Amino acid sequence: MAGNRKVYGFGEVTKHNVAKDCWLIISGKVYDLSLFMDDHPGGDDVLLNSTGKDATIDFEDIGHSNSAKEMMEKYCIGEIDSATIPANSGNVEPQKVSENAEKSSHYTLKILQLIVPLFIMGLAYAIRYLAKAE
Ligand code: HEM
Repeated sequence: MAGNRKVYGFGEVTKHNVAKDCWLIISGKVYDLSLFMDDHPGGDDVLLNSTGKDATIDFEDIGHSNSAKEMMEKYCIGEIDSATIPANSGNVEPQKVSENAEKSSHYTLKILQLIVPLFIMGLAYAIRYLAKAE
């Protein structure tokens, strides 16, 4: 379908995140599900939860039937420009990112706890040494 070929940026798609205007990104395609919200057997809230990210894994995890997959085509409005999808969109758990950040700041703290007393001891030793020398 020629009208199906439009390419959208991630930012543009994620603006459509309310029940009356709901777009999803699934397997590189963009779907306008605004007219399907009330009819979706899984409810409209799960569709809304999948906005603002790449919803491919959400969709696949349910194990949608072939008839659901055929139905999708009706709502396809184009494709997503994959270069605009942020690296951590959708399917990477945000927790893991912050866990790593937490771990590295924990190590920084440990190293500081070791270095600061050593530095102070070294300074005290140097002062005593200089005082004796005078
Ligand atoms: C174009 C997008 C979608 C279409 C056309 C669609 C269609 C359907 C259809 C026809 C069913 C009935 C069961 C089946 O035939 O597989 C269904 C069930 C369901 N869908 Fe979707 N769906 C879409 C996206 C999503 C997304 C993004 C989610 C997010 C998690 C989702 C969650 C569910 C859930 C939870 C059920 C109920 C499963 C059950 O109770 O067995 N769907 N969907």
